[in-house]
Amino acid sequence: MLPSFFLPFSLLLSPSYALNARSPYPEELYSSLIQQKVLKIAQDEPNPAQYPQYTDRVAGVWQYFVPNTWTTGFFPATLYELNTRAQLCKLQDQPDWVDLGRQWSTAEILLETNNTVGHDVGFLSFPFVQELSVNPKNETAIAAVNAFAADLAARFNPIVGCTRSWDTADPTLFEVIIDNMMNLEVLFVSEALTGNHTLREIAISHATKTMENHVRPDGSSFHVVEYNATTGDVIARVTAQGYANNSTWSRGQAWGVYGFANMYMHTQEMDFLETSRRMATYFLDNLPADGITPWDFNAPLVPPRPADSSAATIVATGLLLLSQQEASLVPPNPAGANKWSAAAMKILSDTTGLAWKPEWQSLLSNGTVNNHYPSANNLTGIVYGDYYYIKAGNDLITMGLASC
Ligand SMILES: *[C@@H]1O[C@H](CO)[C@@H](O)[C@H](O)[C@H]1NC(C)=O
Ligand SMILES: *[C@@H]1O[C@H](CO)[C@@H](O)[C@H](O)[C@H]1NC(C)=O
Ligand SMILES: *[C@@H]1O[C@H](CO)[C@@H](O)[C@H](O)[C@H]1NC(C)=O
Ligand SMILES: *[C@@H]1O[C@H](CO)[C@@H](O)[C@H](O)[C@H]1NC(C)=O
Ligand SMILES: *[C@@H]1O[C@H](CO)[C@@H](O)[C@H](O)[C@H]1NC(C)=O
Ligand SMILES: *[C@@H]1O[C@H](CO)[C@@H](O)[C@H](O)[C@H]1NC(C)=O
Ligand SMILES: *[C@@H]1O[C@H](CO)[C@@H](O)[C@H](O)[C@H]1NC(C)=O
Ligand SMILES: *[C@@H]1O[C@H](CO)[C@@H](O)[C@H](O)[C@H]1NC(C)=O
Repeated sequence: MLPSFFLPFSLLLSPSYALNARSPYPEELYSSLIQQKVLKIAQDEPNPAQYPQYTDRVAGVWQYFVPNTWTTGFFPATLYELNTRAQLCKLQDQPDWVDLGRQWSTAEILLETNNTVGHDVGFLSFPFVQELSVNPKNETAIAAVNAFAADLAARFNPIVGCTRSWDTADPTLFEVIIDNMMNLEVLFVSEALTGNHTLREIAISHATKTMENHVRPDGSSFHVVEYNATTGDVIARVTAQGYANNSTWSRGQAWGVYGFANMYMHTQEMDFLETSRRMATYFLDNLPADGITPWDFNAPLVPPRPADSSAATIVATGLLLLSQQEASLVPPNPAGANKWSAAAMKILSDTTGLAWKPEWQSLLSNGTVNNHYPSANNLTGIVYGDYYYIKAGNDLITMGLASC
């Protein structure tokens, strides 16, 4: 516990938080139930390795998938995130989260040279990126990050100017999804390790094209842009996981808020910051009065549209990253920084109120993996929803906006 006269600097800058008796973020973010639930899963790793992705919708029991799945990196990354939590909060009697994170990363190593996850190699790299903040000299982690980055770079088509998201039967069909913005981070991490600036150039080209072709003038976004790989022309703008081809799928919008803020962080290119702001503004302006993130902003209201708590926790971390970029401007933009961080905390509070589920294995319910009949998969826990919930809690502490 810090003595009460010691206030983090950023709290002093935002008196509205400091004076508020009720905390603007949900207490559940720092509940010890988080460590209890995650540890239980971590201690029971299937052999051969399989990874939790989402729960069933009745009892909240994790469903497991083979390592060659786009979501594999999130559970091991969660274990590293809890190591960060233990340090930030000076927690006692903690399990060895790093050891568990390493154990759960092992089955990912084979994927470096053999996977079918497409652009999602960036997500697979997450635990290895975190390992490098624990042990920057770890050769296994360095090799993994560089291999996944090379994989993504090999998917770059200079005529289109993007990395290919998904493989297609017709090689001239080149599909790029807004989610791909999240996978560019591995290119910057590998650039820092190798000094290979081509990786940065690929990331900038991909983000620039995405800014032009996925993001609409009102800051909303298409899920999928189909390009012709031979000519570079845009063929169509469609959806894979959203409600309609011209709708705004909320998780895609959340990936965009985060992805463009991250691009600004790495490049200081104002167009990227502006794009993140516009996407964030659309997201916040289109939340319903109860603050619950719907699975698609254009889905019909009748019958009630299911929420997507994962879109909510992703956008919350994206808004916190955006807030940090506003604070880093010269001169800083404290009004912008406070606006985004306050919005992040409100989304976390509203989402916790709806979806915090002590009796489930996941932390949250009300995730929507996708919502297309007949394979609609709504009202579940989701591993990346939980991951970003924990990360948002850590980021709030790092930013001085919350205490453990
Ligand atoms: C390096 O990271 C790998 C993969 O996460 C892990 O298995 C290994 O134990 C780590 N080694 C050291 C020396 O830290
Ligand atoms: C690649 O992984 C698949 C499982 O995803 C496995 O069946 C196959 O044997 C592997 N190939 C090689 C060359 O290791
Ligand atoms: C830099 O990365 C690109 C993309 O992976 C690769 O084609 C190129 O050979 C690398 N350059 C060097 C000097 O390693
Ligand atoms: C892309 O353009 C080439 C050349 O015009 C054409 O042959 C090919 O069918 C196009 N592919 C798609 C998916 O439209
Ligand atoms: C989107 O458009 C394609 C044709 O371009 C069509 O096949 C598909 O059914 C449409 N999807 C939705 C969800 O409307
Ligand atoms: C999408 O297209 C349909 C049919 O053209 C139209 O009714 C609807 O308003 C459009 N929605 C958006 C968000 O543009
Ligand atoms: C949230 O999930 C519960 C059941 O788990 C369900 O009854 C409720 O309708 C869901 N709410 C939304 C907005 O998705
Ligand atoms: C939720 O998913 C179920 C199938 O699991 C589907 O029948 C239902 O229509 C979906 N709910 C809504 C409101 O879209």
